[in-house]
Amino acid sequence: MTESLIIRGGHVVTATDTFRADVLIADGKIAALGVDDGWTADRVIDADGHYVLPGGIDTHTHFEHHNLKGTTRTADDFRTGSAASAAGGTTTFVDFVRGLPGESLIDAFHRRRTAAEQGSMIDFGFHLMVPATANSDDSFDQLRQLTAEFGATSWKFFMAYTGLMVPDDVLIRGFTEAKALGVLPMVHAENGHMVNAAVDALIEEGKTEEHHHMHGHPAAAEREAIVRAATIAEWVDTPLFIVHVSSADGVGEIQALQSRGRPVFGETCPHYLVTGYEDYSQADFEAAKYICSPPIRESSHQEPLWNALATGVLGSVGTDHATYTMDQPEDLPPQKPQGRGFFPNVPPGVPGAEERLMVLYEHGVARGRFDLNRFVDMTSTNPAKTFGLYPRKGTIAPGSDADVVIWDPQADHTISADRHRSRAGYTLYEGMSVSGAPRHVFSRGQQLVRDGELVELYGHGRYQPRTTLRDRTPTPLPADRSDSSLPIDCEV
Ligand code: URP
Ligand code: ZN
Ligand code: ZN
Ligand code: ZN
Repeated sequence: MTESLIIRGGHVVTATDTFRADVLIADGKIAALGVDDGWTADRVIDADGHYVLPGGIDTHTHFEHHNLKGTTRTADDFRTGSAASAAGGTTTFVDFVRGLPGESLIDAFHRRRTAAEQGSMIDFGFHLMVPATANSDDSFDQLRQLTAEFGATSWKFFMAYTGLMVPDDVLIRGFTEAKALGVLPMVHAENGHMVNAAVDALIEEGKTEEHHHMHGHPAAAEREAIVRAATIAEWVDTPLFIVHVSSADGVGEIQALQSRGRPVFGETCPHYLVTGYEDYSQADFEAAKYICSPPIRESSHQEPLWNALATGVLGSVGTDHATYTMDQPEDLPPQKPQGRGFFPNVPPGVPGAEERLMVLYEHGVARGRFDLNRFVDMTSTNPAKTFGLYPRKGTIAPGSDADVVIWDPQADHTISADRHRSRAGYTLYEGMSVSGAPRHVFSRGQQLVRDGELVELYGHGRYQPRTTLRDRTPTPLPADRSDSSLPIDCEV
């Protein structure tokens, strides 16, 4: 049993409100919220001058992720990935399950659940990946079974990557099966044929230096895939979630769909918001740090993505944390150097689990792009609602899990990979000064960060079954928040 705790005098921030309140935590849950009029607890933490936020929820991670060919694996496993998340104020992640060559989805689910339960410091769930071959094998039987038995209520479809790319008939059947179960379909929206053609043309022209990766993934491929997936979803009549939206083009399509009343939701990632092609277009192998799919595009895409977050067109910020090192440690399969001078061989992915909240707070809240409530919504509440974790997670309310971050808005912290937990060994935000950082982090009442220092509690994390779309109040279309007041409405 975890100790009971009173968090005294902080400003509680939810997706809708900011108010001064004491918080009582007992048995891993939030027991009360209000004025401490004689509560008793094992310990009291003074949160004066701090925000009390629901723990971050990152619904897009790739920890201990093997590539399709089985030739490499991410540098971060569930231990280091979850440690990075916790250190950055994230208390729940939702990762993915895909069978390795010759492995069933059900076996893959149990393998990954066991590994995460042994290694992870924080709670977790899994999205299930729909294989490209699903219409001709027993994948849908397995998907149905895992969804019913373990509450894995979101399925991911890849529209790119040879071998993973689902043909349209799998999208059609998959969305139909998902609808019948109340499962939320998600797509990696890039037209894989356009990407392959663009990459082949670059190879043909000898343009294989690392930075050319960006030209191999045109924004038009993202736009086409969003429109196609959304059109099929509309025909099937199911909601749809677009992961890692990276372009103004993609955002424009999502906005147009929403204005017609379509329940199409989307996520973007910190790296698309604060880094741009200009940051690596002149680099040689260093550009491999930025290689991920979809790519980090020209910085002109940043403001449309920020606007989409501020107005709610995009409701979530996930990390897509998928890490490969820039050197080659002996204990890891081929990392980024494998593709030196030939971008198609650079394993794609960037780190972000530890930096997500700090980067969003600095560039979003501190710079006046949106308010604190919106920040909490896109990093915790809305991901929890979208993926069936709410209200157990994603808010500060009596009865919710005591996943709590005590946030110091005057942290004056400089981001550096030297102090960070990811095995990536680098961050795209090296040297960035941020004015807010997590001071204390609790997962189900258990302290994981104390005075900014990580408490290594590997294996504390537990698998989280999630509700179906039918078992929750329907996720409404994102509200128009374009007129929300920007300045933080309290002084600290
Ligand atoms: O480049 C990335 N994002 N790698 C991870 C897999 C994916 O496409 O999300
Ligand atoms: Zn993806
Ligand atoms: Zn991903
Ligand atoms: Zn305050």
